[in-house]
Amino acid sequence: MRYIDLRSDTFTRPTEAMRQAMLQADVGDDVWGEDPTVNSLEERAAAISGKEAAMYVVSGTMANGLAIRVQTQPGDEVLMHALAHPFHHEAGAPAALFGVTIRPLPGDRGCLDLDALFTAIHPEIRHMSMPTLVELENTHNAAGGVVIPQAHIQAACDIAHEAGLKVHIDGARVFNASVASGLSVAEIAAPADTISFCLSKGLGAPVGSLLCGPADVIARARRFRHMMGGGWRQAGLLAAAGHYALDHHVSRLTFDHSHAKQIAEAIESSKVARLLVPVETNIVLFETVEGISDQQLISRFKQEFGILMAESSPGIIRIVTHLDVSESDTDQVCKAFADA
Ligand SMILES: Cc1ncc(COP(=O)(O)O)c(C=O)c1O
Repeated sequence: MRYIDLRSDTFTRPTEAMRQAMLQADVGDDVWGEDPTVNSLEERAAAISGKEAAMYVVSGTMANGLAIRVQTQPGDEVLMHALAHPFHHEAGAPAALFGVTIRPLPGDRGCLDLDALFTAIHPEIRHMSMPTLVELENTHNAAGGVVIPQAHIQAACDIAHEAGLKVHIDGARVFNASVASGLSVAEIAAPADTISFCLSKGLGAPVGSLLCGPADVIARARRFRHMMGGGWRQAGLLAAAGHYALDHHVSRLTFDHSHAKQIAEAIESSKVARLLVPVETNIVLFETVEGISDQQLISRFKQEFGILMAESSPGIIRIVTHLDVSESDTDQVCKAFADA
């Protein structure tokens, strides 16, 4: 049975054309800087993000981790939203591997409360950990695929930079933000020091993220990537999928966004679920109505309708639309909510 898999946009599988592009990739030893396909992907990522340099890494988690490692010292504090990905879903890496603490900040719809940000930044006090980095997320996953308003990014960066802090944007889904807002990735990234983006989510590549920033920062990140065992050899096979994704899978993200909106409307008119936040991109967050548990709804949709969904946190179910969810899959999902 073919399931309609709405658990995450990480479930996409490489298309036949993408696999062909991978087969034909020109490769070399990337640890020696000699893989032409990786090199051109990194140059392309630097140009897209408007930064001096970029480095291809295995995952969004590694890109975020390296951004933290090169812009903090052990004992420092990183300020981020209480629902930010590194705080909840990166297996404690900032503390375990990079020796920093995270101060989670409040804020509506994935934005930082700017007063809280301002207050959290303090001068050097011997017994306190020093905030040296602010982390923003765009789109904001756990807030529901929210496009962070550019004025907010600018304001948060201004506060951080005035106090001498650096800013990293976790742009795992920044192409969704770009397509939804009409701003280029470079415009979104301009106020920040570094930005990472993923090729393996809505863009449909099997592996890979890019960390982009100033040349000296990326050069140091390259050393730490190697320390972590993240140096890879003929990675051009994978980078070719990234090139293909950037060539073919960016503008089509608008389809994912309209599919998510269609599903959100079906949820709003259903008897089993209630929408939690307005849909802006490819993520839909909802809750079940009283008397139906998350697990009951999730297993009923799997068994009766062949639709896979997952809890994003207790009491919240998340649907993510992507490359492998077609127009007719979307109609089927909407019908399932109407029939349930
Ligand atoms: C906002 C955000 N940042 C970072 C990541 C980590 O990416 P990866 O799974 O490639 O480590 C994810 C993964 O879903 C994410 O949603």
